[in-house]
Amino acid sequence: MREEDFLAHRRISKENIMDIISIIEKKKYGKLLTDKEIDFFIQGYSRGEIPDYQMSALLMAIWFKGMTPEETSNLTLSMVKSGKVIDLSRIEGTKVDKHSSGGVADTVTLPLVALVSANGVPVAKMSGRGLGHTGGTIDKLESIPDLNVEINIEDFIEIVNRVKGAIISQSDELVIADKKIYALRDVTGTVDSIPLIASSIMSKKIASGSDAIVLDVKYGNGAFMRDLHDAIELSRTMVTIGNSLGKETVAYITDMNQPLGDVIGNAIEVREAIDILKGSGSKRLIEIIKILGAECLKLGHRVRTREEGVFLIESSIKDGSGLRKFREIVEAQNGDGRIVENYSLLPQAKYQFSVISPFEGYISGMSTREIGELANFLGAGRTKKEDKIDLSVGIILPVKIGDRIKSNQTIATILSNDREKGEEASKRLIDLIEISEKKVESPPLIYYRVSKEGIEKLY
Ligand code: URA
Repeated sequence: MREEDFLAHRRISKENIMDIISIIEKKKYGKLLTDKEIDFFIQGYSRGEIPDYQMSALLMAIWFKGMTPEETSNLTLSMVKSGKVIDLSRIEGTKVDKHSSGGVADTVTLPLVALVSANGVPVAKMSGRGLGHTGGTIDKLESIPDLNVEINIEDFIEIVNRVKGAIISQSDELVIADKKIYALRDVTGTVDSIPLIASSIMSKKIASGSDAIVLDVKYGNGAFMRDLHDAIELSRTMVTIGNSLGKETVAYITDMNQPLGDVIGNAIEVREAIDILKGSGSKRLIEIIKILGAECLKLGHRVRTREEGVFLIESSIKDGSGLRKFREIVEAQNGDGRIVENYSLLPQAKYQFSVISPFEGYISGMSTREIGELANFLGAGRTKKEDKIDLSVGIILPVKIGDRIKSNQTIATILSNDREKGEEASKRLIDLIEISEKKVESPPLIYYRVSKEGIEKLY
């Protein structure tokens, strides 16, 4: 049926514009939705008045037809309105938040919060749990014995004022629409849509009350954005939304064509975070922490240039102040601070299986998403929301694209509590790592910086 006939048939008019089906059909034909229509749908769905099947239809229409920046901004604001907004005004200084769009071995947040706080910029961080193949900061933190991530806002503010940093689980009362919509997107093939990702991330950032936002937009085969142009578009959209709402927002587009750090899991990522603060750990991970940390110090008005910021972050690793701050944050949240010296206090897996290179050559590619899924298969992440995760399991994968490896070299280690699963994972992992005879260059780590001034190429 032609669109005009269809609209005539349904007699869509201004009077019945709030009709749920009309809104779905408007988007299906690529028409613009007004702020009122978007808000009607989002609030109706959040209150349970619009069923999942109609929301799913709208999400799929948005997936195919997209949204203008204005529609995406209205969608974001409407999502913010669906829940509480945190007031952090009692925290002194410019509060800076950092957010990753989701990756594998993305152990940036833990050391970064400590390093930025150690330099006096307050970080009141609300984080989430793992989503799909990507890990979540809150799950990682929960491997620290006794650490509390469910802290009420009053105590959270007190800790940030006293210690300068805290990381808690995002309250269920924030952005109620996102929780419901994300769960639906996960099962309707509508996660990878720019307006839907932008509104999901930015609504949470706006509701959680910080003054400035540094976004780490992952691009590559382990990210939600597998295309560099889409990653640029997503970054621009989020930077525009943040700045238009008075929150200085900068995005970095960084590589996720291989796991970022050297380990994938929960307790082992905490361990890698501490290694970073001690001056060792994955080189690529340290590099990103320095760049994003420096940007946080700049947006927090601690430094004037990013170069000065990098210098301060490096100094806080060298002089141990970042590590001391990490321990202080852990202890302020009731966690066992001795983990920074004694890794055996973290959950340990029973079995280890080595993954041996079948021949010599160069690592030329990695199936990053599948590697994240393999860690989940071991128990490091969830397949269903209710799943309980095993904090001790994971994958140690210190090789990177471009590395030369010998035949029979151990290129990875599987940590498992189940012998059969561990053996199976070690066999499956080898198929997820490409080895080539030809020399391969290491891919760039940081592609672009996107800010209100424009886009800057960094590779
Ligand atoms: N992270 C989010 O919070 N939302 C998305 O849609 C994707 C990544």
